Formats: sequence, structure tokens, C-alpha cells
Amino acid sequence: MPPHLLSIDSLSRDRVNHLMRIAARMEPIAQRRQVTRILEGAVLGNLFFEASTRTRVSFHAAFCRLGGSVCDTTGFTFSSMAKGESLYDTSRVMSGYCDAIVMRHPDQGSVAEFAAATHVPVINGGDGPGEHPSQALLDFYTIDKEFSRLGKKLAGAHVLLTGDLKYGRTVHSLIKLLSLYAPMRFTLVAPPGLEMPSHLIDLVASRGHRVEQRDSLADDYADVDVVYTTRIQKERFTAEMSEGFSLSRDFTVDRAFMNERCGRDTIVMHPLPRDSRPDANDLDVDLNGDPRLAIFRQTDNGIPVRMAIFATLLQVEELIEKDLRPVRWFVPERIGTDDPVL
Ligand code: NCD
Repeated sequence: MPPHLLSIDSLSRDRVNHLMRIAARMEPIAQRRQVTRILEGAVLGNLFFEASTRTRVSFHAAFCRLGGSVCDTTGFTFSSMAKGESLYDTSRVMSGYCDAIVMRHPDQGSVAEFAAATHVPVINGGDGPGEHPSQALLDFYTIDKEFSRLGKKLAGAHVLLTGDLKYGRTVHSLIKLLSLYAPMRFTLVAPPGLEMPSHLIDLVASRGHRVEQRDSLADDYADVDVVYTTRIQKERFTAEMSEGFSLSRDFTVDRAFMNERCGRDTIVMHPLPRDSRPDANDLDVDLNGDPRLAIFRQTDNGIPVRMAIFATLLQVEELIEKDLRPVRWFVPERIGTDDPVL
């Protein structure tokens, strides 16, 4: 069986823990203190048939930081799929060119169909409203890092997931991943019609977690450890749903919500992009600079986690330590201008 990363379903708790350990070892490389060439000569195919900034670029950058090279194609217009080529044919062709493939596609199940036609490792970079396993792994890595700094434990943690829980693939993968761990509490807050699919709620409940659904953020969330908010995935709406849909301001996570309803050490996460247009009511920019806002630590964590995914799928994770040397170029002490931590 070729080792793909298509869904959280294929991961055990041990496998996730292994990936987390490898990701931690990648930190000096991701933070530009050390260099490795362990994947020198290897080529990644980065195929994105849906909009993407961070997933596409961070997979690309992660492969480069391991010493490999990347070939990519973006959008249907400039690929042979626009000429009617099947996923099977594309997959077989790409396998002749690349040692690993990352793919994002608007149809649920499409990346698995693509992977079935190749022996080269395939990573699901998002299949429509299905899953986004690498995002869940970096989200989990972020929660783990933030909790260790705050002296918190995952067991018994209270996680609030809000926004578009129906079409948001990141929350589908994240709740599956978290449910592999010790019993936790999940509160799911979605606008009507955008609730978490019931099969996922049933799965999480069957693993002994407490799951509660609400339709409003106007409540007391003082004991919540993580607020994970998501963008409304309007691009996946049917014409009927789009008509007249607007997200009420009540669903916005902003400074007032955090100050009045959450704890002083509640962290705020979002897979990004956040929709910053005025009527979108997505995660508010008024939290910028607030130490509880973990969104840019979260995006930074995408690099070591995606490096760990490549290193394990291509079976070089035990060789990294032997291949390190110091960085020779200028690296600023801090990457962002303003990213305080609690
Ligand atoms: C998300 C995605 O594409 O599923 N973005 C990401 O990969 N970080 C979330 C979104 O588009 O809203």
C-alpha cells in the first residue's frame, strides 16, 4: 500500500504523535537556523485546482527547505483537465515526473481517486468540503505548543468550533484528529443550515467526547480553551442557499466577544484566509496584536508540520539530524512586526 495522507481516518494516535515529534525536530530548519538537503534530487508535484495561498506555498516551501524541488500547476484553465483528462490519467502521468504529489480539488473524494492510480505518495491539500488533513495536523501541533506554554492539558480541554461547520473541511479533519485523544468537550456553534455533519458528531460522541451544538455565540464561554473560527464557504453554496444569505454580526469573534465571554488565556485560531470584507463578519481584525490571537503562529507552524509529513512519507525522518548545517544568510530575529504571546 503506498503511504498517502488522504484523511485523518488513516492516522492512529501513535502516528500523529510521531509526526508531531518529527515536526518539532524540523523547527530549527523552519526557523531558518539550520539547513538540510535531505531531499536533494526529489521533485514534488503541487497541483492546485482551487484557490490557495498558504497551503500551496507552505507545501512548496517545506519541500524546498528539505532540499527538494517543486513543479506546480494552478487552476483547471491551464491544466489538461480543461481538455477532459481524467484524474486517473493525470495521476499516472504526474507519477512519472514527481516523487510526491500534493493535490487540492473542489470535489470531495477526488484526491483519493487520484491517489488510487499511483504508487507515489499523495497528500490531500483539500478535497472540496471533505477533508484537509495537513491543516488538522498543524492545528493540532499549534494547540499542543500553545497549551504547553500555558501549562494546559489536552485531556478535558474545551474547544469551541464556530463558523461554517458544514462545508469547512478544516474543522472536519480537526475534530476527527482531536477525537483520537483523551475525552474533551466540543461546543459547535454554526448558523442555521451550516451545522457540522451528523456522522462526524456521532463519531466524536462514540469516542467518549462531550459534544454540544448551539446556534449563537451569545453565551458564557469562560471555560473555553480554544476558539476555532472559520470562514463561510460561500463558493460551496447552492444558488438557493446563496440567495439572501448573510452572516449575522452575532457570529463574529472579535475583541468584545473575547473580553466579555471568554477566559483571559483562551486562544483564538482560524485556518485562514479570513474574509476581511466589511459585511463578511469573519474573525475581526480588532484582535490583531492581542496575545490570544494564535493565527500567525498557526500559519508559521505549517512549515515544520508539512516538512514532517514529507519526511515521513518519503522515509527520511531518521536521517535529518545527520544532514544539518548552519544557515549562512541574514535572518531577522522576529519574522512578524507584532506577534505577542501570552
Ligand atoms: C482553508 C481551506 O482551504 O480549506 N484554508 C486553508 O487551507 N488554510 C479554509 C478556507 O478556505 O476557508
